[in-house]
Amino acid sequence: MTRSGQAPDILSPDFARDPYATYRVLRDDYPLLWHEGTGSYLLSRHQDVQRAVREPVFSSDNYIWQAEPVHGRTILQMSGREHVVHRALVVPAFRGNSLRDRFMPMIERNARELVDGFRQTGSADLVHDFATHFPVNVIVEMLGLDKREHDRFHAWYSTFVAFAANLSRDPEVAAAGLRAHDELAAYLIPIIQERRAHPGDDLLSTLCEAEVDGTRMTDEEVKAFCSLLLTAGGETTDKAIGGMFRNLLARPEQFAAVRADRDLIPMALAETLRFTPPVHMIMRTPTEDVAIAGGTIPAGSVVTALLASANRDDRRFADPDTFDVFRTDLSATTAFSAAADHLSFALGRHFCVGALLARAEVEVGANLLLDALPELEPRDVELPPEQGVFTRGPAALPVRFTPTAP
Ligand code: HEM
Repeated sequence: MTRSGQAPDILSPDFARDPYATYRVLRDDYPLLWHEGTGSYLLSRHQDVQRAVREPVFSSDNYIWQAEPVHGRTILQMSGREHVVHRALVVPAFRGNSLRDRFMPMIERNARELVDGFRQTGSADLVHDFATHFPVNVIVEMLGLDKREHDRFHAWYSTFVAFAANLSRDPEVAAAGLRAHDELAAYLIPIIQERRAHPGDDLLSTLCEAEVDGTRMTDEEVKAFCSLLLTAGGETTDKAIGGMFRNLLARPEQFAAVRADRDLIPMALAETLRFTPPVHMIMRTPTEDVAIAGGTIPAGSVVTALLASANRDDRRFADPDTFDVFRTDLSATTAFSAAADHLSFALGRHFCVGALLARAEVEVGANLLLDALPELEPRDVELPPEQGVFTRGPAALPVRFTPTAP
């Protein structure tokens, strides 16, 4: 194991500008590194990150301080039977028949409403006008909440992500997270009470009525679940959509191939998840000493598993710094399951509940955008940069196209 003051710093401005160069140095020279700034051990190689997100010895107790203060207690930090029982409450809504029959028409309607808002103008910002709204509108409607509150939802979940990503422990960021917790609770608890009295066929009513070991969840537990779903469903898929269009628009030949053959969209998304993942890192807390990457991580310490670095490991992917929708070492068939080659949805028992929903949203949204916006191209020669350290995506994506009528 390497401990060094000179080693790469994931809190530095250079890292924020281009994390991928730092990831390479970490993988090659510091596969296990104690990082003073975050008080955590960094893991960067594919095989080690895979172990950290899959093996139960790497507990998710870190969410007790990273998420519980803002969401309440959620499945992220649960383990064993408690985790299985709570996860089973929402998994059916995000899978197979339910996703296709119950939610697909709503996903399509939400994408169309947004695209119809700008298709006749000839220019748009795909991040601000589409990606920032679409996935959160979908989860808000799944829960049976009011989409017109979009700006508040967006502010709340961005603040929650900032709280979880507050690696340098900025007190202002922490305080803002706690304030947002109180505001979301004040908004949601009366709605939960009203939904208990008059249940509908929405996901919030399902959670209100669900029994865990013969007992209904408390208002606080239902609120925590919704708070997590809004954040997990809003903050990540928007970055995946923005990232996918940015990656394609930067490579006109691959963009033309996807436009011509829409069956390539799942692969374009899978390759985007590998190449520019929305979630760059997650944390873990080993319950015992673990020998890994040539050293030992002590029980109870914090581990930062660098998902985005694992996805660029040349021990796992050929030519990893090249975006290629035709690459043969990444399968679109498994990319949205716990057998994925990339690690962007994590793996193991906390594997992303919403992976199939994310895929459905991106497929529907991308198809609609490609149909409605002929001659789509970037507005500026230089594409806006990616932004963010913990979660990351393009800050904006101005485009122009031939206007069409809704
Ligand atoms: C491209 C989009 C998405 C990405 C990259 C993503 C990424 C992730 C990752 C990395 C985790 C693991 C966290 C950990 O173990 O520490 C996770 C878990 C989770 N995701 Fe997603 N996610 C996406 C979309 C969604 C959507 C649309 C939803 C649904 C609303 C969702 C709901 C969840 C939930 C509830 C968990 C916790 C699962 C558990 O602890 O058992 N995600 N996601």
